[in-house]
Amino acid sequence: MSADLGFVHVFEPPRTPGAPVLLLLHGTGGDERDLLPLGRTLVPTAGLLSPRGKVSEQGMARFFRRLAEGVFDVADLRRRTLELADFVEQAAAHYGVEQNRVVAVGFSNGANIAASMLLLRPETLAAAVLFRAMMPLQPDPLPSIPGTPVFLASGTHDPLIPPREAERLATLLRAAGARVTPHWERAGHQLTPGDVAAARDWLASAAGVMGREQSAA
Ligand code: MLT
Repeated sequence: MSADLGFVHVFEPPRTPGAPVLLLLHGTGGDERDLLPLGRTLVPTAGLLSPRGKVSEQGMARFFRRLAEGVFDVADLRRRTLELADFVEQAAAHYGVEQNRVVAVGFSNGANIAASMLLLRPETLAAAVLFRAMMPLQPDPLPSIPGTPVFLASGTHDPLIPPREAERLATLLRAAGARVTPHWERAGHQLTPGDVAAARDWLASAAGVMGREQSAA
């Protein structure tokens, strides 16, 4: 664990050259260790960069403030999104990671700030896996993120995120140009083995796409 670079975080370097670095963003009440096993399962050779959210809600760590369940403090969300994007860019430089290999993997509150980063600081991320995300904010102007791969895994019975909220986010990301792959589980808010297997397969194919974009650049 390291508290450098402004966020308490864990960094594990990629195990093979060219492997992605997964930016792991935990849910409310989690910490920087929560998603390490998930990241390792999703891409066994990946680097892992896992910060702890700085907001405390009755002792539970989060990445931004909310006013109520599903009602966000948008000013705080904007500020925290930019702060997290700065951290990711500084961490990439510090650890010698190519920025275009950074793939966000967020759950719930972590997925919401990852979606916000795609909308407000899209150059920070090469792709994103969003587990149980909703539309975090309405960006103005809409960013241009042509071809950015986004995997959006939602639960048909999620009591916290109604399906229409996930669909609004997919619509917005597509309007910005992202290549959104929706995935629906017959499940609630918690992740299922089906979510993990689908995300792992998707990441394996998205890695190829990212590589092509890099070699074309
Ligand atoms: C959020 O606050 O980001 C969402 O309501 C999900 C949660 O963390 O409970």
